[in-house]
Amino acid sequence: MSLWGGRFKDGSSAMFRRVNDSFPFDRALASQDIRGSIVWSRAICQAGVLSQDEQQQLERALNALLTKAEAGELDFADSPAEDIHSFVEAALIEQLGDIGRKLHTGRSRNDQVATDFRLWCREHVALLSGDLHKVIQSLLATAKHNQGVILPGYTHLQRAQPVRYPHWCLAYVEMFKRDVSRLHDLSTRLNQCPLGSGALAGTVYPVDRQKIAEQLGFTSPCLNSLDAVSDRDYVLETLFAASTSMMHLSRMAEDLIFFNSGEAGFITLGDQVTSGSSLMPQKKNPDALELIRGKCGRVFGSLQGMLVTMKGLPLAYNKDMQEDKEGLFDAITTWHICLCIAAEVIDTIKLDATRCAKAAREGYANSTELADYLVAKGMPFRTAHDVSGQVVLAALAQRKAIEELSLGELQVFSPLINDDVYAILQLEYLVDKRAILGGTGAAPVAKALDAAIAEFGLPA
Ligand code: ARG
Repeated sequence: MSLWGGRFKDGSSAMFRRVNDSFPFDRALASQDIRGSIVWSRAICQAGVLSQDEQQQLERALNALLTKAEAGELDFADSPAEDIHSFVEAALIEQLGDIGRKLHTGRSRNDQVATDFRLWCREHVALLSGDLHKVIQSLLATAKHNQGVILPGYTHLQRAQPVRYPHWCLAYVEMFKRDVSRLHDLSTRLNQCPLGSGALAGTVYPVDRQKIAEQLGFTSPCLNSLDAVSDRDYVLETLFAASTSMMHLSRMAEDLIFFNSGEAGFITLGDQVTSGSSLMPQKKNPDALELIRGKCGRVFGSLQGMLVTMKGLPLAYNKDMQEDKEGLFDAITTWHICLCIAAEVIDTIKLDATRCAKAAREGYANSTELADYLVAKGMPFRTAHDVSGQVVLAALAQRKAIEELSLGELQVFSPLINDDVYAILQLEYLVDKRAILGGTGAAPVAKALDAAIAEFGLPA
C-alpha cells in the first residue's frame, strides 16, 4: 500500500521503487516507529481525534507489534511497503480497518522519521557508551597487572624517553573518556522531540507536545517545526563521535601492532584475536588490530558523506535526508564491533617486561638526565646539553650505554661528573623523577590509575 496514491494515475516504476524505497534498511527503526505511534495515538486521542476506545484498540495492536518487533519476529518478507512507516500503518489497517486509517491524522512521515531516528540514536549512544566503558576497564586491568613495566616512549617513532606501561594505557583511557563525554554532550541536543511538527509547519491538532516528548523519554519538544523535520545535526554529531573514537582506536591499534612486531617484541597477543598465514607457518598476525585501523575508512566516509548530503539543502524536509540512515547504521555497528574486539585484544596482552626495559635503556634516553645532572652541579643547560651530546657520541663509538662508560671516560667531558652519576642514569630513577601531575613517575601513575579504577572499575 502506498501512502500517497490518490493523486497518482500510474504506479511507480521498478527502478523508482529501488531508488526511493527505504524499507530494506529503515525496518531497523520498527520498534522506535511503533513506540512513536503509541504516543501519537494518545496525543490525538487527547486532542479529540480518536475516541478512548479507538485509541485503546490502536495501542493494543501497536503493543502486539512492538512485542514482535523486539523479538525480531515481524514478518517483513513479502511486504510491498515503501518504508517502515507504511509497513506499520498497513499492519494496523489490516487488523483494525478504519481505526488504523486514523492514526496518521495530524502527523507526517517527516516528523515521524525524525522522531524515530532520534530515538534510535539515543538508544545506540547509550549502548556505545557502555562499550567504551568496557574498553576503559580492560585498559585499567592490563595497567594494574603490569604496573612495574617500563617501555620506551616515542616521538617521531624514535625512542625518546622511557614511560611506565600504565601511563601508556592511561593515555588511551583519557581519549576514551573524552569519547564518553562527547556522547553525553550530544545527548542533550539529541533529546528534543520533533513529533507534532507535522510535515514542516506544525500540526493543526492541539496535541500536548511537552507530554509527547516526555512519554518518549525526550527532555523537551523541538522548538521550530521547520528545523525539527530537517535537522540532522544529531546524525552528524553521532558520526563525528564515532569517527573520533575510531581514530583513537586506530592509534591504539597502531601502537599495539608495533609493540607486537618482531622488531619491538614488547607484547604478544592471544590466539583468539590473531590469525595465521596460509603459506608461512610461523606467522601470527594482528588482524583484529589491523581491521580496527582499516575500518576507520568507512566510518569517516559516512561522516563525510552525510556532511555533503546536508550541504546546501533548502528548508525543510528533502528526500536527500533519507540517505542519513545506512551510513549511520553502518558506522554505529562498525564502532560497536571495533570497541568490543579492542577490549578482547587488550585482555590477551602479555608483556615481555625484560624486552621492554632493554629497549627503554637503549637509545640514550638518559642523556637528558645527564644534562640535568650537570645543571644541578652549576653548568648552564645549553652547555650541559652539548656535553651530554658529546658523551652520547663517545658511547656510540664504543657501542655502549652511557652508564657502561667508566668514571674516567665520563670525566674527560666534564670534571663535574662524579660516581653519583650512575644512580641518576638508572631507568627507574629517570622515570620516577617525573613525579609531576600527569607525568610518568610511579607516584602520579599509581594515583591516576587508582582514580580511574575508582571511577570505571575493573572488568567484571
Ligand atoms: N523514508 C523517509 C526518510 O527516511 C521518510 C520520510 C518521507 N517523507 C516524505 N515526505 N517522503 O527520510
